[in-house]
Amino acid sequence: MARGVFITLEGADGCGKSTQASLLEAAISAKGREVVRLREPGGTAISEKIRGLLLDPANAEMVPECELLLYEASRAQLTRQVIEPALARGAAVLCDRYYDSTYAYQAGGRGLDETLVRQFNVLGSCGRVPDRTIVLDLDPALGYARATAGGADRMEAEGLAFQERVRNAYLRLAAEEPARVRVVDASGEKNEVTARIMAALEDLWVS
Ligand code: TYD
Repeated sequence: MARGVFITLEGADGCGKSTQASLLEAAISAKGREVVRLREPGGTAISEKIRGLLLDPANAEMVPECELLLYEASRAQLTRQVIEPALARGAAVLCDRYYDSTYAYQAGGRGLDETLVRQFNVLGSCGRVPDRTIVLDLDPALGYARATAGGADRMEAEGLAFQERVRNAYLRLAAEEPARVRVVDASGEKNEVTARIMAALEDLWVS
């Protein structure tokens, strides 16, 4: 049986992650692997309810500490209920956002203490570290315009400067953990971007 592989996709809002998640799902399935595609926050009944709280623009009063804990709560449920069993049966788990989003948005974007966020990330992920993390990198102005074309959710309402801090936090992470975190240029034709991502995953299929 193939070894389970845990891949996470990251990037600021509007970087094209959802499109790439679909294309990657197809490309990995074509290798004969079971693919479990997930998104954060979400992926279980409890996590989807938490997602509703987090993204509802009516919850403008939410304080950063509450926001951090809700993302972690959603993640812990997803990790134990879905990710760990899928990896145990040898699936490739493809997760649209994971704990690096919390680092980028809650530490980078909101300015919560980095050490604290990292500690909560360990709890929320139940200690599960992705095998590879792809950061889709795009000019934040372009991504932001794309993401908010149809209206902004509570996070997107934070504005462009917030997205720039998010992007910088991702780039810092990639410099810190080059073996796990790879930055992929998200500009250009979508199939070319998929090919760049697959190249950055190549070594994972040897089990
Ligand atoms: P979503 O609509 O799924 O955005 P995207 O398609 O860009 O992933 O909303 C998720 C939002 O939640 C997004 O703005 C990023 C934010 N987020 C955090 O701030 N912290 C986190 O830990 C996670 C997982 C997401």
